[in-house]
Amino acid sequence: ELLPLQVEINGTVQKLSIEPRVTLLDLLREQLGLTGTKKGCDHGQCGACTVHLDGQRINACLTLALTTEGSQVTTIEGLTKGDTLHPMQEAFIKHDGLQCGYCTPGQIMSAVACIREGHADSPDEVREYMSGNICRCGAYANIVNAIMDVKQ
Ligand code: FES
Repeated sequence: ELLPLQVEINGTVQKLSIEPRVTLLDLLREQLGLTGTKKGCDHGQCGACTVHLDGQRINACLTLALTTEGSQVTTIEGLTKGDTLHPMQEAFIKHDGLQCGYCTPGQIMSAVACIREGHADSPDEVREYMSGNICRCGAYANIVNAIMDVKQ
C-alpha cells in the first residue's frame, strides 16, 4: 500500500506516494534520482548516506522516508548554488580530501554539520565528530585540513 509523503528536498516540495518500508536513502536515490547520496553499508556504519534533516545530519539509510513528513532534507546536490560549489566542496578539492570519492558526499555533509554545530574548534574535535564517516582510501588527514580551512 502506498502512503502519501510531503517533504521539501533541496528547496523543492515533493508530493510523493511511497511504500512504508522505503528508507530516505532509497527514496532519494531510486525515486528521485539524487544519486549523490551513496549507499555503502545500508546499516548505519559508514556515513556514506549522510544528509541533513532540518539542518541536523542523519544517516539516510536508518531513516524511514515517511518519518520526514513536513521536514526539509538537504543532500549533496542541494549544497551547490547553480554552478557555484559550496566552500566545503572547494576545500575538499583544494586539500585533496578525496580519492575514490565514494564517501565524499557523506563526508562533506558531515563536515558542513561539524562546523554548523560548533564541533570544529580543533583537529581532534573534528576527528571525533567525523568518526562516523569511513573512508577506505584513508584521506582522513586531508579531510580534517579541509574542515579546519573552512572553519577559519
Ligand atoms: Fe548509511 Fe552506511 S549507507 S551509514
